[in-house]
Amino acid sequence: MSSSSVPVAKGSTPHELPTLGVVLVAAGRGERLGADEPKAFVKLRGSTLIEHCIKAISALPHAGHLVVVTPDSHAAAALELVGRSIDSGSSWAVSVVHGGRERHESVRFGLEALPDHIEVVLVHDAARPLAPTELFERVSREVQRTGDAVIPVLPVADTLKRVDSQGVVHETVDRAPLVSVQTPQGFMRERLAAAHESLRIASGPPQSPGDVHVLPTDDAEVVQRSGDTVRTVPGDTAAHKLTTAGDLALLEALFAIRGDSTARGARS
Ligand code: CTP
Ligand code: MG
Repeated sequence: MSSSSVPVAKGSTPHELPTLGVVLVAAGRGERLGADEPKAFVKLRGSTLIEHCIKAISALPHAGHLVVVTPDSHAAAALELVGRSIDSGSSWAVSVVHGGRERHESVRFGLEALPDHIEVVLVHDAARPLAPTELFERVSREVQRTGDAVIPVLPVADTLKRVDSQGVVHETVDRAPLVSVQTPQGFMRERLAAAHESLRIASGPPQSPGDVHVLPTDDAEVVQRSGDTVRTVPGDTAAHKLTTAGDLALLEALFAIRGDSTARGARS
């Protein structure tokens, strides 16, 4: 794994060191989207998903350290995007590191690249390019207030049914206690790093033939497996995830509604 930094933060004294870190995971292949390049490098209205995310993050009112986790093949391209997206006067420091085969590995590599003084970390999917600055703030404030893990969620609007492999309906599921989960997700840095380390050890080679590892699909699941409390805050419809080509049209519409302002308001 290599790490490259864009020297953005200047002139900090030790007591002024920023304590907020953001890990932007952008190392996936984007197989379901099926574009010619990794998903985070696909353009939405003229800018890559990474650039959209950096714009929202660097508009946060406090300084911090951003780690962009990219495919090995795209680290140089990511550094160039970072240089283009961060204002020269910004107090954000940015590093670019290589990702892993699975999302949780990419997060771990990103965490390892954060400087020691970072206390609160937000993990964000580059695949959610329109997550507004306000959402990052809401999550980080709640982590600071509670010391717990915090995730943005939306209520489930559709009726939910359990179906079998033949597509036959078995029952309607009560949706009242269910939510859909977004990023950025926020954590005390030490807790998240410890939980990812436990996962790394647990997801090593199987010890017995029946030993099947179910990989976590988000970081809240990683800390929950370590016994931590996970709280929720209202999510934002703009933080929609780009998964398939159909999502591109939806995100373009969301972008058009919002307009291209850096400090964006929230819709939940
Ligand atoms: N991700 C990552 N490293 C991986 C896998 C995923 O950094 N090894 C990142 C993706 O870049 C994305 C986020 O995790 O920003 C959420 O993953 P997903 O939406 O599944 O993206 P992809 O893995 O790229 O898409 P697909 O599963 O369709 O290949
Ligand atoms: Mg994936």
